[in-house]
Amino acid sequence: MKTVCAMLILGLGVPFAGIAQTTLKQAFAKDFLVGAALNTSVFTESNRTETTIVEKQFNTISPENVLKWESVHPEPGKYDFSLADKYVAFGEKHKMFIIGHNLIWHSQTPDWVFHKADGRSLVDRDTLLARMHEHIATVVGRYKGKIGGWDVVNEALEGDGSLRNSLWRKIIGDDYIAKAFEYAHEADPKAELYYNDYSCEDQPKRDGTIAFLKKLQSQGVKITGVGLQGHYRIDSPPASDVDETIAAISKLGLKVMITELDIDVLPPAWEAHGADVSQNFALRPELNPYTNGLPETVQEQLAKRYADLFSVFVTHRGEVTRVTFWGVVDGDSWLNGWPVSGRTSYPLLFGRDGKAKPAFLSVINTAKMKTEANASR
Ligand code: GLA
Repeated sequence: MKTVCAMLILGLGVPFAGIAQTTLKQAFAKDFLVGAALNTSVFTESNRTETTIVEKQFNTISPENVLKWESVHPEPGKYDFSLADKYVAFGEKHKMFIIGHNLIWHSQTPDWVFHKADGRSLVDRDTLLARMHEHIATVVGRYKGKIGGWDVVNEALEGDGSLRNSLWRKIIGDDYIAKAFEYAHEADPKAELYYNDYSCEDQPKRDGTIAFLKKLQSQGVKITGVGLQGHYRIDSPPASDVDETIAAISKLGLKVMITELDIDVLPPAWEAHGADVSQNFALRPELNPYTNGLPETVQEQLAKRYADLFSVFVTHRGEVTRVTFWGVVDGDSWLNGWPVSGRTSYPLLFGRDGKAKPAFLSVINTAKMKTEANASR
C-alpha cells in the first residue's frame, strides 16, 4: 500500500480511475484558481495544442509579455493594444480571471520613459510621475472591469531586502511605489492590486519584503496581495521556506499568489538563484545535460518537488488565492533561454508534445490526498 501511495504521489502511472481525467482547475476548485502565463500563439489560438490545454486546465491567465510597458507603450504618445486586446478577449471568452502583468518594472520599460528628448539626460520627478500616471490611467482604464488583478509593481526589492535603486526610485524617490498603487486604484477601484517579486522566500529578502509591505500598509496604500513568482529550483528553496513566507505575508491580511511557477531541473549556471532577467551565461554542454529527454529519476524528482510545493499551497487554501504556472508546455518556457540560451528545459507540467508529465498527476494527487485527509478527520 505504501508503495502504491508513493507511486501515486509521484504520479507514476498507477491506474487510478478518474484521476487522469481530473483537470487542474477541478482538482483545486475549492482551494485556489490555477492558471498559466500565455504567449501570443496561445491566446491567438494559432498553437492549438497549448490553447486546448489552457482551455481545459486553467481558470486564470497572465500575459507573458503583451501588457509590459515596452509592448503596449513603445513610444511617447503611441500605444499598441492589438495583442493585449486579444489576450483579454481570450480570457473573457473562457470566463477566466484575467491578470494584468505588469505596470511598473525596471525591466522591459523603454529608455524614453526616463529620459528627456535628447535621449541622454534624465527627466525630473514631476515629469516621470506624470508619465507613470498617464500610462497607468490609459492601460488600466482600457481594461477596467475586465482585468481582475494587476501586478502594479514588479521586483522593487534587492536580494538583501532593500529597495532596488531603479531609475523609478532614483528619479521619483521611494514613494514611486505608493504612487503607482494610487494611480492604479484611481483607474479601476475594483481591481485587485499586487506587489510581485522573486526569491521572497530567502532571508533576508523575506524580512525586507515583510517590512516593505508593512510600510505600504501604514501609508494606506491599497494593496490586495503579493505575488511570489515561484521560479524555483529542483532543490531550493525548501518547501518549509515557502510555507513560512506564505504564512508571514498572509498574517498581514494580504492575499498570497504564486504567480510564475516553474521548477528548474537543469544544473545551475551561477551561484545565486532567483529570476534576474539581466543574467546571461554561455552555453556549455555540462549545463545542458538532457537534450534527449529527461531521465526517469529526474522526472520523479520533479514530480515529488511539485507534490511538496502543492501540499504547502493547499495547506494555505484561503490564504493562497491563485497558483499560476509561467508557461504551458516545456518547449515554450523562458527557461530554455535563461540564464543560458539554447538549453532544453523541463520546468512545467506538460511536455514538448503537450502530454501531461508525471508531475501533472502528482499535483492532481496532492489535491485528492488533501480531500481524503479532510474527509477522514
Ligand atoms: C520575471 C517577470 C516576468 C518574466 C519572467 C521571465 O519573473 O516578472 O514577466 O519576464 O521574469 O520570463
